[in-house]
Amino acid sequence: MSVTAQELETLSIKAIDAKATAYCPYSKFRVGACILTKSGEFITGANVENASYPVGTCAERVAFGTAVVAGHKEFKALAVATDISPPASPCGMCRQFIREFTSLDFPVYMYDGEGKHKVMTMNELLPESFGPGQLK
Ligand code: THU
Repeated sequence: MSVTAQELETLSIKAIDAKATAYCPYSKFRVGACILTKSGEFITGANVENASYPVGTCAERVAFGTAVVAGHKEFKALAVATDISPPASPCGMCRQFIREFTSLDFPVYMYDGEGKHKVMTMNELLPESFGPGQLK
């Protein structure tokens, strides 16, 4: 199921806007994320840091957690936005978290501070991944 140009436009705007909701007083590194569900909804997240540094959560996991508790289990695409260039890609922990809910061809769009993007599939980001299928 591929993403339309209009969906991608909305996904990117929402991921970039979500950077403004980041709570990152320690790193000052803003990350915004937006997921497009198969039902056509857009769900955003941003990184939420903590005075006890390792307790902080990445934008991608905030977005997926929010989507899952809202009842969504099937997703079409993810966009992640930061202020750096080249764009940042999801950290290792987030890759595994995302993999739980996505197929290997799931696209992850990564936006830099100027709105330029790079796209990679889940399989490219996390090859030979361990997923729910292994426990069936
Ligand atoms: N961060 C994310 O939100 N997503 C990533 O994939 C990489 C890192 C956040 C965590 C922390 O709040 C800040 O960026 C610096 O590491």
